[in-house]
Amino acid sequence: MERTLVIIKPEAVIKKLVGKIISIYEDNRLDIIHAHRVLPTKEVLEKHYDAHKGKEFYDSLIDFMSSSEVMVLILEGENVVNIVREINGSTNPLKAKPGSIRYMFGETIQKNAVHGSESIEIAAKEIDIWRDLIRFES
Ligand code: CMP
Repeated sequence: MERTLVIIKPEAVIKKLVGKIISIYEDNRLDIIHAHRVLPTKEVLEKHYDAHKGKEFYDSLIDFMSSSEVMVLILEGENVVNIVREINGSTNPLKAKPGSIRYMFGETIQKNAVHGSESIEIAAKEIDIWRDLIRFES
């Protein structure tokens, strides 16, 4: 069964939006098979955001994501990668569709409430990267 990785970002955890965000995924019939609150290490974040290394926002992104605890979710379901991307909305909350998580809860392109894997292949890589920090059996 297809899986994807979601990170509820620091500002959304601080604003106590975890329950609301998880409910949105569940209302869309997706299964949350793992949920773990953790303070990300820079080492894991550098692997996770490797594709953005060298971009002007990279250092600030790593600092922000390691500033406070996040909620890491693994979701499972048919076509879950694309469904989650649709539910999350555009990376920039100002461009996100009304009703999407980033439209409702995003503050800026960096503080955009959630991260969701871009493809099935990237999801598999990201799930493996977070295994360094979070123990889950399957
Ligand atoms: P995320 O899904 O976590 O993946 C990469 C993140 O980089 C993205 O969400 C944004 O938070 C951030 N990002 C992407 N583009 C920009 C940008 N132009 N300026 C600042 N942050 C960005």
